[in-house]
Amino acid sequence: MACAHPQGCSVSGSIVLQRKCRVHARAASTVDAFQKATLDERCITTRDIDGFRPFYSRSHCLLSKVCSLIEELKKVFTRVYLDLKMTCRDNSDLSPDQPVYWRDRWEKGVTPWDCGCAHPLLVHLAPRLPSGRALVPGCGSGYDVIALAKQDPARQVTGLDLSELACKRGESMRDEAGLSSKQVQFIEGDFFKFDYEEPFDLVYDYTFFCALPPHLRKQWAARMAELVKPGGILFTLMFPVRDSGTGAEGGPPFSVSHEAYASVLEPAGFKLLECGDVPSAYRRPKTPSPGAELYGLWQRVGA
Ligand SMILES: C[S@@+](CC[C@H](N)C(=O)[O-])C[C@H]1O[C@@H](n2cnc3c(N)ncnc32)[C@H](O)[C@@H]1O
Repeated sequence: MACAHPQGCSVSGSIVLQRKCRVHARAASTVDAFQKATLDERCITTRDIDGFRPFYSRSHCLLSKVCSLIEELKKVFTRVYLDLKMTCRDNSDLSPDQPVYWRDRWEKGVTPWDCGCAHPLLVHLAPRLPSGRALVPGCGSGYDVIALAKQDPARQVTGLDLSELACKRGESMRDEAGLSSKQVQFIEGDFFKFDYEEPFDLVYDYTFFCALPPHLRKQWAARMAELVKPGGILFTLMFPVRDSGTGAEGGPPFSVSHEAYASVLEPAGFKLLECGDVPSAYRRPKTPSPGAELYGLWQRVGA
């Protein structure tokens, strides 16, 4: 048997040396097996190493446990990091013309526009608005949908939003208000694509126009012309009014102006019946200053 003693051991004379040699040879084969063994197996094989057993056994068991702990921690940190990345992800890479932008905001509860009540001016003007079929695109939680329905039991109101969560909120508010699903319905869908049976007598737009990137404004007006029946009314509550002209700097997400509405609605076949600043008595609590919010009643002309 070859001797693995570091100093060499071809000695055969001395009994002492022979015994030492045997001990080293046994240790050498054990160390060899030890190196090939897995970490768990090492805990057992180290017990075989004469003289080193307590030390190897304890330190390698400990080492093996530390290694698996590190592996576990790595997995946990990776998971936490990915979760945080998802949660903290800003929307800078998303655009408001992508449904995912809005769904993402609803899912994260980032809905600063939600004032928790219907717009006071809508409540005030509702008796003057057409009965029949009404549509509220981009209805959010649906306060305005419920207000229109409550004011006139003959009015059938549809709330439309991209977000399923928003529609669910509207439905529970409807149920709490004791309104029927025949009178009030919420549709999860895209304003530009959703199916409807017939055009509406009234469409009410509040903070939907400003939610669309300006390049969609012409398309918005063309779609409104399809949705509002001839002679029907489009009621626009224009917010946030920041500038004159058709610019859209600021927001959120995009600023509006009376001109921005008129420049797309008039060519699409709407006539302005009435407009003005929202009187202070009917401003929403969050609306900052006079002039930041205007209203307009537009009639769809033509057959
Ligand atoms: C600024 S929020 C206003 C919500 C509501 N009008 C209010 O005042 O509480 C705009 C809403 O429009 C919805 N929305 C955006 N694009 C849409 C689209 N193409 N079709 C339907 N809903 C849309 C969003 O999900 C969001 O709820």
